[in-house]
Amino acid sequence: MLVLEIDDIKKIIEKIGFKDYFLQLIDTIEKDYKSWDDFDKMPRVATHVDGGVIELMPISNKSQYSFKYVNGHPKNPNTSNKLTVMATGQLSLVETGEPLMFCEMTLLTALRTAATSALAAKYLAKKESKILALIGNGAQSEFQYLAFSYLFDLEEIRYFDVDSKAMEKMALNLKEYKVKFTPCPDAKTCVKGADIITTCTADKRYQTILTKDMIKKDVFINALGGDCPGKTELSSDLVRDSNVVVEFLEQSKIEGEIQHLGDDYICPELHEILTKKVSLNVANDGTIIFDSVGFALQDYSVLSLTYKLAKELDIGSHLNLIPQMKDVKDLYSLLKE
Ligand SMILES: NC(=O)c1ccc[n+]([C@@H]2O[C@H](COP(=O)([O-])OP(=O)(O)OC[C@H]3O[C@@H](n4cnc5c(N)ncnc54)[C@H](O)[C@@H]3O)[C@@H](O)[C@H]2O)c1
Repeated sequence: MLVLEIDDIKKIIEKIGFKDYFLQLIDTIEKDYKSWDDFDKMPRVATHVDGGVIELMPISNKSQYSFKYVNGHPKNPNTSNKLTVMATGQLSLVETGEPLMFCEMTLLTALRTAATSALAAKYLAKKESKILALIGNGAQSEFQYLAFSYLFDLEEIRYFDVDSKAMEKMALNLKEYKVKFTPCPDAKTCVKGADIITTCTADKRYQTILTKDMIKKDVFINALGGDCPGKTELSSDLVRDSNVVVEFLEQSKIEGEIQHLGDDYICPELHEILTKKVSLNVANDGTIIFDSVGFALQDYSVLSLTYKLAKELDIGSHLNLIPQMKDVKDLYSLLKE
């Protein structure tokens, strides 16, 4: 069985380059979302624990099955020097159930989340968007900037975090990119003049990072930090009075910003935008919120693309996790001397 560690993901990205990897990933996610009806979907299974959540995210189509194990513990960086979000995942063959690959997914989660953000913006934000506001400058933030920068001609990145060290870290990591960096003292200043806003903060409570009065009409808000019951980032009137797009309504009602709006609330899902069943753009329709909580389909896309690339590039280790034997009924023989 193929096993991909962090170093293997690094090797894949070094071989094909950040930009090409992101562009291929955005294409793969788009193609998979356009085959929405081919997937067997369910809301993720969440185990809520003190200070966090542990989730399993399964999905399959006729050929492959994937699942991700992921946590969300916002206090981790401060209390135990662990990441807020850590993940591993698996890809299997549907026909036989044989596991094909086990994989690190902390990096892959950041990559697929940013790719999905950029994909949503490709359809929903102004084509000529120049200014990106990034609120929350932790683990996800650089990936967000990079994915947007490949689809939009960004000139300025405005950024804010309650932790000034996180702001410095992000600016340092991205300093090679030719864009104006504007550190901001608060969220209100940060979003001034922005065309695209990403909120990727971590706090297990109802936060109000953005309120209606801060937002001009033709802004695309990519809200991805609110992804659990009781964990949101936007004021409820901002959500109510904007056009909202979600990944998978059944799951987003439980976990997204729209949990503020009650069980009867409905809005378009991303696949309807990508297949043009629903047409929405901030230029014509006013503020749009992509209320992202993260959906298993994005994990399927990143796992299947990464599996294909790892095989093409001959990267990864083959570990003896699944018995390979002549007589498959003789499992006991594995334990005999
Ligand atoms: N939607 C998705 O698909 C998806 C995917 C990955 C992560 N997430 C979520 O995104 C969020 C960020 O993840 P991360 O891995 O970057 O976490 P992180 O802990 O590394 O970074 C979060 C940052 O938010 C900052 N922050 C907290 N409250 C703030 C506030 N009020 N104003 C400004 N900054 C604030 C923290 O100081 C921290 O630097 C988490 O809530 C995570 O659950 C969502």
